[in-house]
Amino acid sequence: MDIAGLDRLLKEHKGHVGAVILTVTNNSGGGQPVSMANAEGVSAICKRHGALFLLDCCRIAENSWFVNHREADMAQLSYRRIAQRMFALADGAVMSAKKDALVNMGGFLALRDDALSEACVNLLIITEGFTTYTAA
Ligand SMILES: Cc1ncc(COP(=O)(O)O)c(C=O)c1O
Repeated sequence: MDIAGLDRLLKEHKGHVGAVILTVTNNSGGGQPVSMANAEGVSAICKRHGALFLLDCCRIAENSWFVNHREADMAQLSYRRIAQRMFALADGAVMSAKKDALVNMGGFLALRDDALSEACVNLLIITEGFTTYTAA
């Protein structure tokens, strides 16, 4: 993420951006990894501007591998710890589980805010169905 650009954008559109999604790894950058420092920067800017910070984490395992191998200060951490550290920066995450989670279909939205989570569940009922539904 272009940190300075994000800061500028959130200033320009103050109060009109509900959430920022950081895709790890970076699809639009050809699958390049997102560094821990970049995720920390995005998290700090979102907090400053009152926007939710969400991870599109469908390739979080792959991203963690890259962070471990490319960032000297992350080399001693396991892939799991790196992923946990990145998740800890975020207010929530979306995952298409067909990617790193290696399932044939499905995914999830995870949110720290229970009230927002409940609002999403309620919206889901009128768009897709109950969260307990499974595909036949
Ligand atoms: C980063 C990322 N997020 C979300 C999706 C959407 O996944 P799905 O097709 O399961 O909705 C994709 C699809 O390739 C993706 O690359």
